[in-house]
Amino acid sequence: ARPDLQVLWATSFLARGDVEKARRAPVYIRIPFLEICSFPDFPSGVDLLMSAPSPRVIKTHLPFQLLPKSFLEKDCKIIYVARNAKDNLVSYYFFDRMNLVQPDPGPWDGYIKKFMEGTVAWGSCYDHVRRYWDERANHRILYLFYEDMKEDLAREVRRVMDFLEIDLPEDTVQKIIHHTSFQAMKDNPMSNYSTFPDAILDKKIGSFMRKGEVGDWKNYFTVAQREVFDADYLRKMEGTTLHFRDVL
Ligand SMILES: *[C@@H]1O[C@H](CO)[C@@H](O)[C@H](O)[C@H]1NC(C)=O
Repeated sequence: ARPDLQVLWATSFLARGDVEKARRAPVYIRIPFLEICSFPDFPSGVDLLMSAPSPRVIKTHLPFQLLPKSFLEKDCKIIYVARNAKDNLVSYYFFDRMNLVQPDPGPWDGYIKKFMEGTVAWGSCYDHVRRYWDERANHRILYLFYEDMKEDLAREVRRVMDFLEIDLPEDTVQKIIHHTSFQAMKDNPMSNYSTFPDAILDKKIGSFMRKGEVGDWKNYFTVAQREVFDADYLRKMEGTTLHFRDVL
């Protein structure tokens, strides 16, 4: 029988490093995805959030200008994770292949073009990363980089704790660092999406947690594709102080 997702959610929400508590429900239930609509046997993000007690952790991919106004009016803390554009593109390509509710990515070369034009779900990556970067001056935004998390996860976990003003015993922090590594999350059925409905993510086509590497784009871009992409990237990112590592 299908577990009652609302009950799972209520008993496992905000585990604060309590591994057993976190294990009670998949991450997509514990941290509702704001803009996901409901599917058969699967509640929408809004459904889950309506009954959620404060404080809530909410996942969203929305660009800044589409965030609910209340997030800003209520001065919510925002943790933004950005990744360099070419790795982002490769990751999104494989994700779109297995995601049955987003447009088919089509051939690789055409997908690069779509990504550059911003005609992929959630729009232009360039505008997305730039806008949140600029809004740091106006709102409580912790801007994290995927590349930094791969380099030193412990450092980035501590930055999140500082930002959230959370103090935990050192052994709990060590547990959090252990369980949030890419490999631990890939092996963990509560975070690797193996329990997510196949009607949305087809696990025969791919894996939600794929490689988690920095610079994997080098295995997919040809020299010509890279040159076109980089020239366009420099134009689109002109004038910003936002700089990614390993991007060009
Ligand atoms: C998810 O985790 C389970 C349990 O460790 C494992 O059997 C499964 O292969 C993992 N799925 C993926 C896609 O890695």
